[in-house]
Amino acid sequence: MKDLTINGCKIVFSEAGFATLDQYLKDIEHSVSKTIILCDDITHEVCLPRFAERLENLDPQYEIIEIPHGEEYKNIDTCTQIWESLSDIGADRHSLLINLGGGVVCDMGGYAASCYMRGIRFINVPTTLLSQVDASVGGKTGVDLGGLKNIVGLFTMPDMVLVSGVFLPTLPEYEILSGFAEMIKHGLIRSRSHWEELSSSADFDIETLERLVYDSVHIKYDVVLEDPREKNIRKSLNFGHTIGHAIESHLMRTSRAISHGHAVAIGMVCECYLSIKECGLSEDFVAAFKEYICGIYPVVDIDEGELDDIMEIMTHDKKNSSKGINFSLLKSIGDVSIDHYIPQEDIKNAILFYTYQ
Ligand SMILES: NC(=O)c1ccc[n+]([C@@H]2O[C@H](COP(=O)([O-])OP(=O)(O)OC[C@H]3O[C@@H](n4cnc5c(N)ncnc54)[C@H](O)[C@@H]3O)[C@@H](O)[C@H]2O)c1
Ligand SMILES: [Zn+2]
Repeated sequence: MKDLTINGCKIVFSEAGFATLDQYLKDIEHSVSKTIILCDDITHEVCLPRFAERLENLDPQYEIIEIPHGEEYKNIDTCTQIWESLSDIGADRHSLLINLGGGVVCDMGGYAASCYMRGIRFINVPTTLLSQVDASVGGKTGVDLGGLKNIVGLFTMPDMVLVSGVFLPTLPEYEILSGFAEMIKHGLIRSRSHWEELSSSADFDIETLERLVYDSVHIKYDVVLEDPREKNIRKSLNFGHTIGHAIESHLMRTSRAISHGHAVAIGMVCECYLSIKECGLSEDFVAAFKEYICGIYPVVDIDEGELDDIMEIMTHDKKNSSKGINFSLLKSIGDVSIDHYIPQEDIKNAILFYTYQ
C-alpha cells in the first residue's frame, strides 16, 4: 500500500504508515513546541492507547483535549472550547494537533487547528471506517451551524493522514456498515473490480478490509486530484447522496434516525433506479443491487405520505441549484455520469421503488 500525496499532505497506511508517522514525529521533534491530541470520550478510551503504544517518537509530554462524542457537538461552541483549551495549555504557532477520532473529531480539529493563531500544523488519524474512506482525503474541515451540516469551514490540508485497521475492531457493526456504503459507492462510480470484491463477501478479516479501504481511499484520491474544488467530476462522489441525504434528514426529523451510510445505501438504490431511464443502466443489475442492499441494511419503511417532506428537503439542499435537483448517475458499474436534472415525479417513483416493488 503505497503512500499517497495530495497538496503536500501524505496519506499513509497500516503498520508502515505508523512507521512513517513515527519518523515524521522524530524529524519535527525540535521544531514542535507542544503536541496535543484531540479525541472524543470514546476514542480517548479505545483508540488513544493503541495509537500511543505504536509510536516511539510521540512526545511523552503530550496533552489531551477531550470533547464529548457525537455529531451534536460538532459546532462552534465545542470549537471555542478547543481553542480555549489550546490557549490554556499554552499552545503556540509551533504546536502540533493530532486529531484522533471519527469524522467529527477530524473535521472539527482540522478547522480548529487552521484558525488557531492563523493556522498550526495538524495530523488526522481517522478511526472510523467512514472517516478513513471518506474524510481522510480532500481537505474539507468545518463545523455544523444550527441544523445546517458543515456550513462553516475551510479547505485545508493536514500534514499527514494515517489510515490504519488497528482501530476498526472496536467499531460497532452499525458504524462499520455506515462506512461500507461509501466504499460500495466508490466501486460503483469508478471501479467494477472494487465493487465485485466488496459484494463478494459479508465478512472480511482486518487485513482484507485494510486493503479494501486502501482501494477506496485511492478512488477518492484520484477523483479529488482531478477536481479538487468540486467543479465537475468530484460531483460523482455525490452518487446516492442526493436522495440519501434527504432521507437521512427526513428520518431524523421523524425520530427514526439511521446512519449516514445506511441512508446513502438507500439513496444508491433509488439513484440506480433513476439511472435505468436516464443513463441506460441494466434493469437486472438494479434489481439485484436492491436485493443486496436490503440484505445487509435493515429495510426502512417510507410511505407515500412522506414523499413531500423528502422532496422539500432535497429542493433546499445547498448542492442543488435553480436548474433543479442535480444527480450523479450510473451508465454502468464503474462508469458515472454527472449533472443530470430529474423531474420530481421520477424522483418520487425512485423512492417508491425502494419501498414497494
Ligand atoms: N471531511 C470530509 O470530507 C468528510 C467526509 C465524510 C464525512 N465527514 C464528516 O464526518 C462525520 C461522520 O463521521 P463518523 O461517522 O466517523 O462520525 P463520528 O466521528 O461521530 O464517529 C462515530 C462514533 O464512533 C465512535 N468511534 C470512533 N472511532 C471509534 C473506534 N475506533 N472504536 C469505537 N468507536 C469509535 C465515535 O466516538 C462516535 O461515537 C460527519 O460530521 C461528516 O460531516 C467529513
Ligand atoms: Zn457520504
